[in-house]
Amino acid sequence: MGHRSLELIGGNACPGLTDDIAKELNIHRTVARVGRFPDGEIDVQIEANVRGADVFLIQSTSPPVNDNLMELLILIDAARRASAMRITAVIPYFGYARKDRKDEGRVPITAKLVANLLTKAGADRVLTIDLHAAQIQGFFDVPVDHLYSAPVLVRHFLKQRLENLTVVAPDVGSSKMARGYANRLGGDLAIVDKRRVSGEDVEVGDVIGEVKDRNVLLVDDMISTAGSITEAARVCAERGARSVRIAATHGVFCGPARERLRAAPVEEIVVTDTIPIDTTGLPTLNVLRIGPLLSDAIMRVHTEQSLSVLFSRIE
Ligand code: R5P
Repeated sequence: MGHRSLELIGGNACPGLTDDIAKELNIHRTVARVGRFPDGEIDVQIEANVRGADVFLIQSTSPPVNDNLMELLILIDAARRASAMRITAVIPYFGYARKDRKDEGRVPITAKLVANLLTKAGADRVLTIDLHAAQIQGFFDVPVDHLYSAPVLVRHFLKQRLENLTVVAPDVGSSKMARGYANRLGGDLAIVDKRRVSGEDVEVGDVIGEVKDRNVLLVDDMISTAGSITEAARVCAERGARSVRIAATHGVFCGPARERLRAAPVEEIVVTDTIPIDTTGLPTLNVLRIGPLLSDAIMRVHTEQSLSVLFSRIE
């Protein structure tokens, strides 16, 4: 595939990240005009020849999720009809992922629906980071390269040389992720007993594990309304943690998230730029670049090299 030209196209969801990837790859992004008809319908035109090209479309399906998803589908359609040889949907944040099974009667499985839409539109491959549930890969019948932001976040926290560290999972679902961080950073593991009471609110019980007099690092795949992670931070602080930091791959930051994060008893908030983040009013927020990891992955896909080296590498 290396002899085919690599074309990088971005939608409106994460233009800064697309530019960052282009800079890392030392190429110009292929311009695609993504506009609106007066009635709101999306209109797209790829403004360069992509016939026979290896096309990478960068688009997070972050809020406004329906617009961003539809834009991505239409970009895929445009690239397919322009005779791109291969189309990779690069979806740094994969939305609609929370409904990945029927846990009640008469509900959809939106993660599968989105997978169907992407492949039906013409995506030949998918490249994504920290899916809400790793098994969503199996909803696709095309190859999915699933990266982890852990090398980027771990590198950041290794520099801080945190002693007496306890990595805390804000719920049972993130305990595997937290254990990985604890192993890499040399800390203990603790888990918060969380119960979701609504889309916006959670109730936390106790912390399973030791947080008293410890430096706590809470890790999760995403911060949405920030209920989970700030409640977990509050409980850790109440149980006598020496300091509390929070880290997540995706900063969705919707609804009351910013207020909750501002009020949380934490020294530092760390997310990556899979979704563009406004840091205004959040002085403790640190946004780490995911572009280098993604550009490395894109080049490896383009040149048909293994990606597994990216999963464990911590520099
Ligand atoms: C839950 O399963 C996820 O890993 C996150 O903890 C959750 O989606 C975060 O949502 P919020 O920030 O709204 O509590």
